[in-house]
Amino acid sequence: MTSRTPATATGARGSAFAGASGGDPSGIRDEPTRPQDATANGLGSGSVPVTGITVTRHLAAAERHASLTADVRAGLTANPRELPPKWFYDATGSLLFDRITRLPEYYPTRREHAVLAANAARIATACPATTLIELGSGTSEKTRLLLDALRNAGVLRRFVPFDVDEETLLRAGQEILRSYPGTSVHAVVGDFERHLAFLPGSASGDSGSAGGVAADRRLVAFLGGTIGNLRPETRGTFLRALRDQFHDGDALLLGTDLVKDPARLVAAYDDSAGVTAAFNRNVLSVINRELDADFDLRGFAHVAAWDPENSWIEMRLRSVREQEVSVRALGLVTRFGADEQMRTEISAKFTLEGIRAELAAAGLGTSAQWTDPDGDFALTLAVPA
Ligand code: SAH
Ligand code: TRP
Repeated sequence: MTSRTPATATGARGSAFAGASGGDPSGIRDEPTRPQDATANGLGSGSVPVTGITVTRHLAAAERHASLTADVRAGLTANPRELPPKWFYDATGSLLFDRITRLPEYYPTRREHAVLAANAARIATACPATTLIELGSGTSEKTRLLLDALRNAGVLRRFVPFDVDEETLLRAGQEILRSYPGTSVHAVVGDFERHLAFLPGSASGDSGSAGGVAADRRLVAFLGGTIGNLRPETRGTFLRALRDQFHDGDALLLGTDLVKDPARLVAAYDDSAGVTAAFNRNVLSVINRELDADFDLRGFAHVAAWDPENSWIEMRLRSVREQEVSVRALGLVTRFGADEQMRTEISAKFTLEGIRAELAAAGLGTSAQWTDPDGDFALTLAVPA
């Protein structure tokens, strides 16, 4: 799974998001596509859809390690301390998140499923995409509603799941391939904050033959409210980077959780079974394993609080006692005070107008917006303005 062939650049870089954000350039790598179990190499091979899963890795072990190291060093030496959320998602983290989606308190997944089920056919009509790209795809469960609609419309040729967690990504990719014979699957292991410039089908990112690009209409799904896990400035940069990749006819389908009663919001991020707490603490396990640290997971308590000013849920880990932690790979020994809190995640909640305004600021015009009957969760379809 981790073996890889030497990198070969495939065309111009375009405006890499990493450049725009001043992100870690050492992590940027144009990985070759590596046929996983077949000869498939994306579209471009003619009118017959190819089957088989192709994998592009922007985050192989070395890049992942470099990126984690930089993030953890910056986060643990900041005041207050902070750990970036993408590191929640190793195989255990993805499994825990999957359990979160089934919790009684965690309404977003069910609500988004309902909005998708009610509108998937409309979405496929509005954007009859040949390629469905999914950012932060995870298990791609809800995505099947979109795949079904695009298949029923007779247009679907390729599915491109994109995620930092390779294991979950490849398993989900294989399952989709089995369920949708005749649709090719091109999995991308990457960080959507850094590797958007290389999306299949974009001018700089397609690894297939150039002939397939022009005819390729892409729907980019970004579901689960994951955009709310980015800070507002990062959201803007992210949306502009995505918009820069769009051709006429491409569209973004954005899933966002909406502002509501704070008690329901907090319960969704602090469930009674303690699954979210375990998920939150999992970031410490990742650091223990990958950076040779000695965080005692019982020494940190899960905190979820609603911040009305910023309109987000903030997740933290609170040190339950004074304690010393060593992160050997960083040569760092650091003390946590009793009750010291470290921020791990935000989950922003939106209004329908607010979403449209953020999209507009990034050059994306809203063509449709739907919610579930209770108005808990929104899907917004946007196209280059
Ligand atoms: N789309 C799924 C999963 C949401 S959980 C759903 O709606 O249920 C968020 C997903 O985004 C996880 O699978 C996680 O691994 C992935 N993710 C988080 N940060 C990421 C990043 N910076 N780049 C790519 N994927 C990321
Ligand atoms: N995108 C999800 C959300 O914001 C991620 C998530 C759910 C999450 N529960 C969490 C992240 C708990 C950290 C901790 O709803």
